[in-house]
Amino acid sequence: MSPTPVILDMDPGHDDAIAMLVALGSPALEVVGITTVAGNQTLARTTRNACRVLTVAGARGLEVAAGADRPLVRDQVLAADIHGESGLDGPILPDPRVAVAEEPAVLHMARLLRAARAPVTLIPTGPLTNVALLLRLFPELAGRIREIVWMGGSTREGNVTPAAEFNAFADPEAAHVVFTAGVALRMVGLNLTHQAVATPDVVERIAALPGPVPRLVVDLLEFFTASYRRVFAMPAPPVHDACAVAAVIDPGLVTSVPAHVAVELGGRHTYGATVVDRGGARPANCQVAVELDRSGFWDLVTAALARL
Ligand code: RIB
Ligand code: CA
Repeated sequence: MSPTPVILDMDPGHDDAIAMLVALGSPALEVVGITTVAGNQTLARTTRNACRVLTVAGARGLEVAAGADRPLVRDQVLAADIHGESGLDGPILPDPRVAVAEEPAVLHMARLLRAARAPVTLIPTGPLTNVALLLRLFPELAGRIREIVWMGGSTREGNVTPAAEFNAFADPEAAHVVFTAGVALRMVGLNLTHQAVATPDVVERIAALPGPVPRLVVDLLEFFTASYRRVFAMPAPPVHDACAVAAVIDPGLVTSVPAHVAVELGGRHTYGATVVDRGGARPANCQVAVELDRSGFWDLVTAALARL
């Protein structure tokens, strides 16, 4: 079976970096493009981080296209408390040897969608600003998108406010555009990603793999673990973004259900919440991931990292 063409739209970010490496190490995917968006850190930093991770991965022929440097409407929020001032604090990373594309992310995505041999799966793992702009500027390209598989939102509590998850909270209006666009969409929210916690036994398994990429992932997880202990009093971190990539690599790993999801844009206390209605009162506009095959997930992650 030919690999699925995918575009990664990211805000590296420790878990974005791991997700990128898992995607690059999986023969089931053909990463045709990587774009960046402001989110965990500023656009300049997320873009530099994407280029640095790609440099370690030794990816050939890929460039990074930088996208939106701020949300569509709201004030900018970052996540330096989790990812540090660089957005990828902890590991010692090489200076990037990967080019930043001349064209902005939205034009890069549009060109890739037109040129792709088959409809492309978009895997956004940050705020949906770039994807919303793409859908608004090029609605005719919706048919060239096989599916959007987004790490974001939650069927239950948030992680920035009690109601809102970071990627949704950082640009709720963009999320609203995507959830109302009528494009095939899977929401991989906190309720799913908190089933993918990088416990010490997982870290040991990755540390046993040879080469610079597993080493980088162990260093990323060391910093990410410390952040999650300090900020959330969690003993180990959920590797959120890798869940969205794994859901595309092996859809059987993630059970999803149809639901209507609305993004709260007006609530004083609930702004950015993804309000999930599985009751059928309103027609489903997406698939919501609810159950992860944990052992299958970590098998997939370690196998992908071992290939790089
Ligand atoms: O809420 C988790 C999400 O926010 C992840 O994508 C993480 O990288 C941050 O962007
Ligand atoms: Ca992210």
